[in-house]
Amino acid sequence: MSTQLSIILDCDPGHDDAIAIVVAAAHTNVLGITTVAGNAPLDLTTRNALIMTDLLGLDTPVHSGANRPLVAPPRHAGYVHGASGLDGAALPEPSRRADSDQAIDFIIETCRAHEGVWLVPTGPMTNIALALRAAPDLGGRIAGISLMGGGSFGNRTAAAEFNLWADPEAAAIVFGYGGPLIMSGLDVTHQFQATPERIGSVRAVPGRLAALLADLLTFFTSAYLARNADMRGAAVHDPLAVMVLTHPDLFQREPRHVVIETQGEHTRGMTLIDQRHLIERPARNCDVLTAVDADAAFDVIVQAIASFSRP
Ligand code: RIB
Ligand code: CA
Repeated sequence: MSTQLSIILDCDPGHDDAIAIVVAAAHTNVLGITTVAGNAPLDLTTRNALIMTDLLGLDTPVHSGANRPLVAPPRHAGYVHGASGLDGAALPEPSRRADSDQAIDFIIETCRAHEGVWLVPTGPMTNIALALRAAPDLGGRIAGISLMGGGSFGNRTAAAEFNLWADPEAAAIVFGYGGPLIMSGLDVTHQFQATPERIGSVRAVPGRLAALLADLLTFFTSAYLARNADMRGAAVHDPLAVMVLTHPDLFQREPRHVVIETQGEHTRGMTLIDQRHLIERPARNCDVLTAVDADAAFDVIVQAIASFSRP
């Protein structure tokens, strides 16, 4: 009987999603991986998720989901992740196809069959929103939602982080679902950078998997350094949404009231985090991560990679 947390990882691989898959596979009971359009179109994020399960030797179910946001047009992030969504390494072809293209049904059925599942979205939250809307009982069945997204600043725009910018309407549904919610936003993920030293610690792990992941992180970091003047490496965002569940002591968090801007001409997709210290304040709907022990957290990644590595 596993004592590990059971999760569904909903992702758009994506370099940092790929690392999130490694950490989730090492430290949680991954009931399934669901894919969504985001960093790349759905066929590519799904392909990349399948490749990662192959590299880790996993038979985890993979179900593809939404190929576009609820309302916004589909927009991707090739400028960061490359045309394939996972550029920078010589990756194998996937050995299998997705188990289905019905991610929303998989999420609903799995959360009804298993009490206390954590939903961990690390891409646009279209699948999660559609599942919550189709099955109103879900919010009371799951343990909670631990998401990567948002922040007191943006990256796709000055105000909006990519996952929420891509599908603000879906994010608004998720942030309003009423259950436990943990937000790994840019304020914490930018503390967690794939510096040359950290990439070197990945490359030092024997075997092909570590070499491939080091190549991917090198590409990811080069894309970041080409755009960001004040960083030493790519922010490895997505694994933090997993690690806050598996290694909570590595993080600091604050309960906050957070709403999603869906109308603003310049702020659409923004997380408005209420920082006021009012005596009577709006109900807090979200734990916002504010700090991470980055060295210890990156060591979790290195050890997770090592646990799947064959010299
Ligand atoms: O803004 C960073 C987020 O957008 C990460 O999840 C990254 O993978 C992209 O999906
Ligand atoms: Ca992602």
